[in-house]
Amino acid sequence: MTHKVAFSFADGKTLFCSVQDNEILLDAALRSGIKIPLDCREGVCATCQGRCESGQYTQDYVDEEALSLADLAQGKVLSCQTRVQSNATFYFDFDSTLCSAEGPRRVQSLITGVELVSETTAVLHVDAGQHPQQLDYLPGQYARLHVPGTDEWRSYSFASRPSPDNKLQFLVRLLPQGVMSDFMRDRCRPGQVLEFEAPLGSFYLRQINRPLYLVAGGTGLSAFLGMLDELAIRGNCGQPVTLFYGVTQEADLCEVERLQRYREQITDFDVQLVVSRPSATWSGKRGWIPEHFDRDVLSAGAFDMYVCGPPPMVEAIKGWLSEENVQGGNLYYEKFVESNSSR
Ligand SMILES: Cc1cc2nc3c(=O)[nH]c(=O)nc-3n(C[C@H](O)[C@H](O)[C@H](O)COP(=O)(O)OP(=O)(O)OC[C@H]3O[C@@H](n4cnc5c(N)ncnc54)[C@H](O)[C@@H]3O)c2cc1C
Ligand code: FES
Repeated sequence: MTHKVAFSFADGKTLFCSVQDNEILLDAALRSGIKIPLDCREGVCATCQGRCESGQYTQDYVDEEALSLADLAQGKVLSCQTRVQSNATFYFDFDSTLCSAEGPRRVQSLITGVELVSETTAVLHVDAGQHPQQLDYLPGQYARLHVPGTDEWRSYSFASRPSPDNKLQFLVRLLPQGVMSDFMRDRCRPGQVLEFEAPLGSFYLRQINRPLYLVAGGTGLSAFLGMLDELAIRGNCGQPVTLFYGVTQEADLCEVERLQRYREQITDFDVQLVVSRPSATWSGKRGWIPEHFDRDVLSAGAFDMYVCGPPPMVEAIKGWLSEENVQGGNLYYEKFVESNSSR
């Protein structure tokens, strides 16, 4: 038995494909050339998420980091885990163009430098200038980097906007121990070859026609650096833009001068730095980011909020919006779920 499935997208386009009974939605989509963004294929990263608008389905495995019970109750699904059991319609909150492109490419590049920008963070500078065309990606999307000398791959958001010279940056958190962290600290040298796959993910800036809130936890800032690079070129996007950037200690703060420069370049742009465990000398904002949201302002009108960083931080923001009954916002998020060996 086959079912007809419609994929509807944020740009209003709808694509169709046939699905065998109980077939995985993602497999059927890919077979028909509908390239739903994906990463883990294991129900963990939530990159492939959509929402069922009609029809019947079951899901094999959904990690709680990927979709909460509230998400499931709203009909959210992971395409890589969804088995379709009737004619159905699924909505994806990104443009159809993201699925019709050639899909991610493997790119050979050269490492040009590692810059320590805080005690726990480094910027990895990469030159992909040998690639024949400009690399196309949307700021906010990410790449899977092969960790040289290992069989491991790790995901990192682009921390710069696309440019014709294909010079790229990634903002990398240095864990005390970790495959990429150890490489960056001990073995990374200019001139080394770095292979990566990109672009991946569906976290990118939509049309800006409401006040914009960017909420970064730790190196979640990376995705926003690319977006802010883009906004800095536009200068004025016609709406107020507020970046909340939260870290554990002051020593984790990075790229603060770059954020200050955006203040000069982007009209009506504000940065709020929030430190959860500050030293006695820290005079800025303390605690968790939602404690510094203005509930009255957020409740008063429509807004777009983009959240990027560790899963608990993303869940905390979602939880706060739901507990405070703030409903007028569109929420987009990217969770930096921990890597596993298949990633
Ligand atoms: C879509 C996506 C985009 C991402 N973008 C970025 C980015 O721009 N910048 C960035 O720094 N990271 C990003 N990450 C996370 C990144 O892919 C790696 O998981 C992270 O850098 C750790 O890699 P590692 O090889 O150093 O450590 P691993 O070898 O993966 O882990 C070593 C140990 O540390 C633990 N661990 C892993 N991650 C964390 C964590 N966050 N906090 C505490 N313990 C942890 C592991 O459980 C393990 O025990 C992203 C992840 C995803 C899924
Ligand atoms: S690709 Fe489906 S959850 Fe990761």
